[in-house]
Amino acid sequence: MKALILCAGKGTRLRPLTFTSAKHLIPVANKPILFYSLEMIKKAGIEEVGIVVSPDNKKEFVNRLGDGKEIGLKISYIVQTEPKGLAHAVKVAEEFLNGEEFLMYLGDNLIKEDLSGFVKDFKAGKYDAYILLTPVDDPTRFGVAVVKEGKVVRVIEKPKEPPSNLAIVGVYIFNSKIFEGVNNIKPSWRGELEITDAIGYLIDKGYNVGARIIYGWWKDTGKPDDLIDANRKILEDLDVRFIRGEVDSASIIQGKVYIDEDTTIINSVIRGPVVVGRRTRIVNTYVGPYTSIGNEVVLENCEVENSIILDGAALININSRIDASIFGKSSVVSTSDGKPRTLKFVVGDHSKIRLI
Ligand code: DAU
Repeated sequence: MKALILCAGKGTRLRPLTFTSAKHLIPVANKPILFYSLEMIKKAGIEEVGIVVSPDNKKEFVNRLGDGKEIGLKISYIVQTEPKGLAHAVKVAEEFLNGEEFLMYLGDNLIKEDLSGFVKDFKAGKYDAYILLTPVDDPTRFGVAVVKEGKVVRVIEKPKEPPSNLAIVGVYIFNSKIFEGVNNIKPSWRGELEITDAIGYLIDKGYNVGARIIYGWWKDTGKPDDLIDANRKILEDLDVRFIRGEVDSASIIQGKVYIDEDTTIINSVIRGPVVVGRRTRIVNTYVGPYTSIGNEVVLENCEVENSIILDGAALININSRIDASIFGKSSVVSTSDGKPRTLKFVVGDHSKIRLI
């Protein structure tokens, strides 16, 4: 079995972060989102992975992952020139898939589910398509499925009146029958070839479409708040206390905390779960739970919690506590004592700043 991870698309809702990075490569708990799915795919025994990329972001993926050898996978890149839908991405990958069964994973999804069981059930049930579902509060934002006696009897993409609360998670297994589906559907109201419609086609033709329902956590990381939420959920599971950096005697480190090499903590309180990367400097600062701090970050005279601070960012002399925030790579936020006491900004396109 192969895996196909979909990482084309524009990531507009995560601007400005996605001006310089594909959303799938934004770190959550100091690890790019995509790496979590690659690890799970490998754990499920799949070695050959095709990543569907856009012409703009291909280079970034190749730079980060290369041919996959370093992480024990064989990775190919498939360019989708325009994001014309998930079913379109499958068509573009036809040559790579070569008629084999494949696990398809939407690259901006984070789930906590062992995929080995999912693969095993697909094989045992002799399914043509097998999908992961989970109950959600607002099914209108997702593809939705109706399940009867273990079989999927209906699927609909982003319904105004959802026929169930079971959302399509974005992890699927297909055999080559899916090509019959993707080749026989028309673009949806949003102009995309929907994989949901291709699955609907298989159901209508009487093929064997099954589902596994999961109740653990799952996150579609489309918006900034989703990243904060995913960060919190991953850090909740942090089960190490690992301190490599230098912590002075005036500092207090509490709970599950990961502090990497060459990082210095001076006169500060770090209350886990918190991860801190390398060569970071934290001085006179409080870092509260659910905070991820990257490499070469500077925090001085500030209080921050429940936030993501990416490599090279600096927060200096901030008077209010920072909460639920994301700081992009090399961003700087500071106050000065100089006169006149004005606010001074260089704010990138699509940035969001809320002052009190
Ligand atoms: O998150 C789960 C939902 O994902 C499902 O419930 C829906 O049934 C499914 O259609 C999908 O809906 P979204 O509207 O959230 O999909 P999105 O456009 O965000 O794309 C998901 C991923 O696939 C994202 O990593 C980008 C990639 N993609 C998307 C398109 C449209 C491609 O690689 N190519 C594409 O053409």
